[in-house]
This record gives sequence, C-alpha cells and structure tokens, in this order.
Amino acid sequence: PRCIWLTRHGESIDNIMGKIGGDAPLSPRGKRYGACLSRFIKHQRRENEVSRRLEAEAGMAISNPRERTVAVWTSMLTRTKETVEEFDPKEYDIKHMRFLNEIYAGICEGLSYNQIEQLYPEEFESRRINKLFYRYPGMGGESYLDVVQRLNPLIIELERMTSDLLIVTHRVVMRILLGYLMDIDRSKMPEMEVPLHTLYCVEPKPHGTVVRKFKWVE
Ligand code: F6P
Repeated sequence: PRCIWLTRHGESIDNIMGKIGGDAPLSPRGKRYGACLSRFIKHQRRENEVSRRLEAEAGMAISNPRERTVAVWTSMLTRTKETVEEFDPKEYDIKHMRFLNEIYAGICEGLSYNQIEQLYPEEFESRRINKLFYRYPGMGGESYLDVVQRLNPLIIELERMTSDLLIVTHRVVMRILLGYLMDIDRSKMPEMEVPLHTLYCVEPKPHGTVVRKFKWVE
C-alpha cells in the first residue's frame, strides 16, 4: 500500500487499571479516540479526492490512480473492534483477524506488572532479562518471537496490497510491525515507545520509509 496507518486501540478499562491482556471494553476516553480516528481518516480520504478533482480540472489525470478503498484491519479483541465502531462498513473494507491479537500472557493474563512480580517473581525476572525470547507460561502463552512468527503471513499480505490500510492493534503487535516496516533491530523492539492515542502513517519510499506521527489532542 501507499500508506499504512497504524494505531493501538483507544484506552481500555484494563489500561486504566494497569492490567495486561484480557478482553476489556474501551473507556469513555478510548471511545472518543475511536471517533476522532474515524473523522481523521475520512478527512484524509476527502483530501485525496479533492486533489484528484483539481488535477482533472487542470486537464491532467493520473494514469495509475491509487485504489479508492481503505482497508481497516483490527484484532479479534473487543477494544480494537470498539475503536473502529464509528467507521461506516459501507465505506471501508473492515476485517477482524486473530493474527493482530495482543501477545497472550498465559497465567499472567489479567494481572498488573506489580501482581506478576509478587506472584511469580522468577518469571518477572526472566522476562526483564530477556523480553524478546521470554515466553509466558500457561496454555497458549507467547513470546515476542512467537508473535513475530504469527505475523509473518500478515506481513506478506500487507506487502501485496495496493489500497491504503489502517491497522488497529495492540502494543506488542505495533512494536513488531513498526520495527519491521522501519527496519529496526529485533533486539530493540520490546522497548520501543508506542503510546496509546497515537497514529502512525508509514509510507514505503524508494529511499527508505517515511513515518509521520499524529498525537490525539483532546
Ligand atoms: O498493557 C497493554 C499491553 O498491550 C498488554 O496487554 C501486553 O501484555 C503489554 O501491553 C505488552 O507490553 P510489554 O511487552 O512491554 O509488557
């Protein structure tokens, strides 16, 4: 695609409580971010249409127009689905996919970092020492590298796409996708700053990737 928009979901109830994982709904503030996101993407599309019209008026038509659709991909979790609630399914090709789910924290799902440190001090320490390789214990528990693996098919699909794309996902998946798109060393990924309510626009260009960052100001 010409432009890949990437964001985490709006603030969830668990974000406020400092709990990891789970499937909490959005807070009122998180919902307002979702509404702002839908307005913003709509404006971006309108801008493209206006420049197309002005070019045509001047007598010049682009011969390889960019597809007009914007695909919207979210994870299967409530907080990303709720973030795109205001996107009109007639205007956007909206898909929810498991690939984009947050890292699964096994026995630590639903706990805060403090609780993990208290209940499972050795686990807490192993993760601190080697976050990239550390796999959460318990059924389905994942490591960053597991998530990298699960995202591979999605990255292949993403590179084939010609329409613009908005991905609404989670902290770990954002770190991995941004890390891949910006060619950041794997070892740096687990510590990348990826705040809530921040929208990244990633444009692959011949001389390297251009990234623009938009912060929601309420
Ligand atoms: O707190 C939000 C969250 O997305 C959790 O669900 C997830 O476990 C965590 O962030 C990942 O961040 P880190 O790898 O830094 O613990």
